[in-house]
Amino acid sequence: MIYREGRAIINTSKMKYLSAGGTETEREGFFMDAINTSALILDTGDVISEGNAQKFNEWLKKYAVPYREIMSFYTCALMEVETKFRVLSEDLSFSVERNPIETIHSRLKTPESIMNKVMRRGIPLSVESIEENLNDIAGVRVVCTFQSDIYTLAESFLRQDDVTLIARKDYFQNPKPNGYRSLHLIVSVPIFLHNEKKSMKVEVQLRTLAMDLWASTEHKIRYKKDNYISPADSQALLECAHSCSEIDRKMEQIYRNIQNSKKEQEKNKQ
Ligand code: GTP
Ligand code: MG
Repeated sequence: MIYREGRAIINTSKMKYLSAGGTETEREGFFMDAINTSALILDTGDVISEGNAQKFNEWLKKYAVPYREIMSFYTCALMEVETKFRVLSEDLSFSVERNPIETIHSRLKTPESIMNKVMRRGIPLSVESIEENLNDIAGVRVVCTFQSDIYTLAESFLRQDDVTLIARKDYFQNPKPNGYRSLHLIVSVPIFLHNEKKSMKVEVQLRTLAMDLWASTEHKIRYKKDNYISPADSQALLECAHSCSEIDRKMEQIYRNIQNSKKEQEKNKQ
């Protein structure tokens, strides 16, 4: 159970499990556990009072099934976007003679994390509302070798006629004060279902290997956690971000030098 401002909020993973096949006893147990905490807020304005188990079951049918359906649409959108990047990587590996993508990782936002964001933003907890208001339910992270690869890939991806750009945040051009650098694209892509076509939003984060090292580590130790970090440690983290950026710059420069001397040699042979 999650508690916010003294109110109990339903745990959606448990709800998902229960709605998918938990036993009647488990459902009742969960419900009793919830109502023991006072009022249970199931969605904005929908307060369920003690003993109203029937209403809880109705609520599961009304919300849990559409929730599972929308999450499956987001899974399809992740597959579409991942494939687009894999195709670009395969194609570019011919023209630039190396694979510009190191890794591609997709994830769906967890029910807990959706719930926390909905609470933080004060938006209604319904499938329609999360679809409209949250841009990062489906996320794809593309880790590239060099910063220039990121722009090449992003441009090719955004040129595709079924990809619509909704928002672009370039944290390479404007790094965050903590040193975070990545290119973020919120796009919508179509998914083709058996009887309809739907547009789904996906958040794409493109970053370099060095920046991925920094961001993944920083995420674990700081991002949105309540841990206290001293000003000295914050400063040290910022310096680490600068060092990663510097490594990126130097490695790319070395690569360019090697490419140029290769071209020189070839020219001299002619
Ligand atoms: P969220 O509400 O967290 O999704 O952020 P936002 O709507 O302000 O969007 P933004 O594009 O700034 O961040 C989206 C995502 O980028 C986050 O959920 C993280 O995955 C990542 N991110 C952004 N800033 C940081 C940062 O300072 N450190 C790390 N490690 N990741 C970050
Ligand atoms: Mg996010």
